[in-house]
Amino acid sequence: MKTILLSVDKSVDNLMDNPQVEKAASLLAENEVVAIPTETVYGLGGNAENDDAVQKIFSAKGRPSDNPLIIHIADKSQLNGFVEEIPEKASILMDKFWPGPLTIIFKKKPGVLSEKATAGLDTIAVRMPDHPVALAILKKCGLPIAAPSANSSGKPSPTTAKHVKDDLEGKIAGIIDGGPTGVGVESTVVDCTEQVPVILRPGGVTKEQLEKVIGEVVTDPALLNEAEKPKAPGMKYKHYAPDAPMYLVKGSQKFLQELVDEKRKKGLRVGVLTTEERQEDYQADIVLACGKRESLPTVASALYDTLRSFNDEHMDIIFSEVFPVEGVGQAIMNRLLKAAGNKIISE
Ligand code: TXA
Ligand code: MG
Repeated sequence: MKTILLSVDKSVDNLMDNPQVEKAASLLAENEVVAIPTETVYGLGGNAENDDAVQKIFSAKGRPSDNPLIIHIADKSQLNGFVEEIPEKASILMDKFWPGPLTIIFKKKPGVLSEKATAGLDTIAVRMPDHPVALAILKKCGLPIAAPSANSSGKPSPTTAKHVKDDLEGKIAGIIDGGPTGVGVESTVVDCTEQVPVILRPGGVTKEQLEKVIGEVVTDPALLNEAEKPKAPGMKYKHYAPDAPMYLVKGSQKFLQELVDEKRKKGLRVGVLTTEERQEDYQADIVLACGKRESLPTVASALYDTLRSFNDEHMDIIFSEVFPVEGVGQAIMNRLLKAAGNKIISE
């Protein structure tokens, strides 16, 4: 299939009348799938009311069918069509964080959207993205749009249109290039069907931010303990992984350098993931700086591009520094642990 590539400048006025936005909206209305920029990562959008469109999303990504999709909307009024109830705390969160990187799980009204989109669950994940191009496309087509991250299943999520193209060109109808995404890690998924809301996936909105507006929030224990089954089906899969095996190193820079030296002596091509402050300190085949350690949002923003860049360099092994598990550091460490298949070396 030919994938059409369209660019939209997100800063222009009247995006609703932009021909590229109109094209994307009409492809979605024809039940084709289109990659669209959001503030977190690029999403692979399809009409959530239509089984064929949703099936095209799963096929293009090679995504397991038991992993439900997030439904994207441009207007809160769309919710009433497919959710059973809007709990008080969900309502407060929507007012505070939508549009933005927060996905809320509601009880689903059965029989409205494609069962495939929700993998047959009786709950449904919904978010309103904070990106002018995404919002214009959603408004123009007026449909609830199912959109997982627009990567091949298992790969790092895409933060540029080029990442999407590398994974999905020839498999989808279109890619809308709206520039690099910004936040860089996916939305926080919070289950509001429980009395005390539960974070199922840490992301762009932090636990601290949520607690400030609705009080106690807990984190799904499975995110911290490998033995438990996570409540977000997607969290059990290997994900975000670069091609080469990656290890997270808890210890000093000297300790990490010793690990590098040992592997290089054996003739391996070794990569290091660090930050700008320390890039010059390491000797390895490739040393990539992922943002600035003093500003975790810059690390989040650069994370997936850095992981993908190692693939261009054909590494044999990658050692990554770790980050504080606070604020957006929770999401960063969650993704790094998955990318590393939970392989940690401690000093
Ligand atoms: O930032 C984002 O959320 C991006 C952009 C494109 O919006 N989307 C995204 O979608 O990350 P995806 O499909 O890559 O991740 C969706 C996550 C998965 O872990 C999935 O299992 C979980 O949300 N999820 C979806 N519906 C759920 C439900 N009803 N109950 C529990 N978890 C659910
Ligand atoms: Mg994903």
